[in-house]
Amino acid sequence: MRGLPPLPVLRLGRRLLIRADALMQWMLSLELREAEGQRLRGCLGDNAMLPKSTALSVKRIGDVTLYQADSFDLMPELGDVDAIITDPPYNPKTHKGARSARSLASSQIDFDSLTEAQFIEFCGNAVSQAKRWVVMSCAWQHAAQLEKAGVPLVRLGIWHKPNGAPQFTGDRPGMGWEAIAILHREGKKRGNGGGHHAVWVCNVEHGEHPTQKPLKLVEDWRAKFTDPGETILDPFMGSGTTGVACVKLGRKFVGIEKRPDYFQLAGVPHP
Ligand SMILES: C[S@@+](CC[C@H](N)C(=O)[O-])C[C@H]1O[C@@H](n2cnc3c(N)ncnc32)[C@H](O)[C@@H]1O
Repeated sequence: MRGLPPLPVLRLGRRLLIRADALMQWMLSLELREAEGQRLRGCLGDNAMLPKSTALSVKRIGDVTLYQADSFDLMPELGDVDAIITDPPYNPKTHKGARSARSLASSQIDFDSLTEAQFIEFCGNAVSQAKRWVVMSCAWQHAAQLEKAGVPLVRLGIWHKPNGAPQFTGDRPGMGWEAIAILHREGKKRGNGGGHHAVWVCNVEHGEHPTQKPLKLVEDWRAKFTDPGETILDPFMGSGTTGVACVKLGRKFVGIEKRPDYFQLAGVPHP
């Protein structure tokens, strides 16, 4: 919670003065804060993580809180979480070149990419906000910048996609995998995977969202990097795959999605 606004006090030698009009203004700002707090508590219930002045919309269902917001604005307003499991936008080149059998002529990705600087900024914020792991699929070009930028990369893993799209031009090998960045702030680390390799083999699944991740893949991250009762944040939640994986096994979930159409999808149960 943010603290109270400072009382408008003037110091004159050893005396403290408060101007009457400044005091009135201060009291009014307290009343407005209280009224806004009551409005939000009415929407969310008393134990919600308040306040969220940058969210356009909020849905709360049990242990799940979903925000329609820009995560770069909203994340600083949220408190610490136990872990972050996410799938941020990739780099401009990957977005431009993304083709599928259903969309050969133009890219299938219709949301904005992240520049390298935005990606590094996000990772730095994520590592300081997560008490434990930050796990994400990301563009390999982005992942390759992490160590140089001083972000604590613990392991770079891969998601092998046996049924991934081939190279439709046929003039070079297809990609068939995506990078998985596994980060952790300085200090003791603990995982549930018993030293497993950071290699996941899982088929691509197609859903309503153009880059929806397979539930099985995200469920395995949840199992290996989080414990029951913990709060998991996905700041780029898309259709909400991470949320589905979390609530299935007793994790609390906070999701953020910028686009209203994908935000609507996130409330809908996955098949
Ligand atoms: C790669 S997709 C995530 C897909 C998701 N893993 C799923 O399974 O559906 C990234 C999502 O982040 C959203 N996004 C992009 N920039 C954002 C931002 N600054 N704040 C919040 N959401 C953002 C996009 O609209 C997109 O839906």
